Amino acid sequence: LAGDPEKGERVFRKCKACHAVGEGAKAKTGPVLNGVVGREIAAQPDFDYSDALKELAAKDGTWTPEELAAFLEKPRGFAKGTKMSFAGLRKEEERADVIAYLATFSME
Ligand code: HEM
Repeated sequence: LAGDPEKGERVFRKCKACHAVGEGAKAKTGPVLNGVVGREIAAQPDFDYSDALKELAAKDGTWTPEELAAFLEKPRGFAKGTKMSFAGLRKEEERADVIAYLATFSME
């Protein structure tokens, strides 16, 4: 399913309390998400990840769109013990849209 980054920007409102993107973004409750699509899991140097996310990194390596979609559908089901306290995005379309939005932010 191809996502729409403009719709994804609206979906990202659900994430903004904890995550920042864009130039000058800083870690909040959650890590900065610039460049997260294709990035190594749990790899922001200034962020203290849970063991759950570090174990996922050792097992699965990088955030592919598929991996992100699975995590975002049910964060605490996919990465048991994650400290991301978010119920998840139930709709496939919302997941695809927010991933397309995140893909517009590169690492720098
Ligand atoms: C981790 C996305 C909502 C708090 C992550 C990661 C992604 C992500 C991709 C992994 C980052 C990495 O490996 O560097 C999103 C999206 C959201 C959302 C797209 C909205 C749909 C939230 C909310 C909160 C939150 C609402 C706070 C209540 C966190 C925390 C982590 C995290 C604390 C680190 C998890 C850990 O170490 O176990 N998020 N997030 N996120 N997020 Fe979110």
